[in-house]
Amino acid sequence: MTLLSKFQHPEVKQLAQSKDSLVSTFQVEAHNLSKKFTKGKNGILAVEDFSFAVPAGQMFGLLGPDGAGKTTTLRMLASVMPATKGNAKVGGFDTQRETRQARQLIGYMPQNFSLYPDLSVMENLIFFADINGVHGKRRNERIQEMLAFTRLKEFTDRRAANLSGGMKKKLALACALLHEPQVLILDEPSTGVDPVSRRELWVILSKVVQDGVTVVVSTPYMDEAERCHQVGILYNGKLLTSGSPSDLQNGLPFEIVEVKAKPRKVMREVVGDAPYVLQWRTIGDRLRLSVKDPFTATKLLENTLASEGAEIKVLRHSKRSMEDVFIHLVEERRASN
Ligand SMILES: Nc1ncnc2c1ncn2[C@@H]1O[C@H](COP(=O)(O)OP(=O)(O)OP(=O)(O)O)[C@@H](O)[C@H]1O
Ligand SMILES: [Mg+2]
Repeated sequence: MTLLSKFQHPEVKQLAQSKDSLVSTFQVEAHNLSKKFTKGKNGILAVEDFSFAVPAGQMFGLLGPDGAGKTTTLRMLASVMPATKGNAKVGGFDTQRETRQARQLIGYMPQNFSLYPDLSVMENLIFFADINGVHGKRRNERIQEMLAFTRLKEFTDRRAANLSGGMKKKLALACALLHEPQVLILDEPSTGVDPVSRRELWVILSKVVQDGVTVVVSTPYMDEAERCHQVGILYNGKLLTSGSPSDLQNGLPFEIVEVKAKPRKVMREVVGDAPYVLQWRTIGDRLRLSVKDPFTATKLLENTLASEGAEIKVLRHSKRSMEDVFIHLVEERRASN
């Protein structure tokens, strides 16, 4: 069994195989979702037969390198772009055939700036409330709740164009949440945002999920991927794998050893020459090694580094991360192309 097929989420498989007979308990579903852009000679197959399912109240993370098809997938889910093949359902409503019902359940935050730069924070909130059918007393209540939730209360008069990157993202999130959607679709909500604002955004998202909202979020950040219940990794429009972060990490065919030793040149030479090191990469001042047997590798490295006169600062068996999963799968796929 290859690593890819091993990671196929069983629920996704089941959905793909018996979609008509299954009474769905999923809040978001995609069945063989595909999108072909008619550009160039052969067109671009941006998304191909992508199937996944998200139970209510869970967070599904969409990962993939640039151009993998994340935005295209989220646009089809949010019912702002038709699929070429396959379908998506939100709350049981087909996003193409029952667009109006599906849209009422969806809050969508696109990747690119979606606010009106010349309008103030308050004017943007009022505008998005109005177009989403939130009126009267309820509108004021929701706006105040969202301002408190996102801590934008003191900036209500500021033009959206003059907000910081993090504040813009928070305002876009507030606008997407105004009509109390059951499903939140977020396309890279924290890209280009400083680490403190990024954390604040994720505190808000955790609360949203705690309140029972189902979230589908694309992200380039692997620490964010680890916060999701399930993740799917897209590559060239195809799903490489999906599953919980811990299942994906535990399924890797190698373990990780971290080493930091001085002089660095000696450390690199020893690691580069070690036949039991499958791969290595630099993270800050240390090296992160993929090995089959971390206990033997640690012992052997300790001996070799000592015999080469290197001073060992760190040498330990380390937890596998989503970054290890992502890099391994993408490199495996690139090598097979
Ligand atoms: N409107 C369009 N017309 C033609 N091709 C498009 C269109 N939108 C996207 N594509 C192409 O489809 C592929 C997938 O693009 P998409 O924006 O979905 O990727 P992505 O994973 O969101 O990338 P990024 O991480 O850079 O945001 C790319 O090759 C892109 O050039
Ligand atoms: Mg994108």
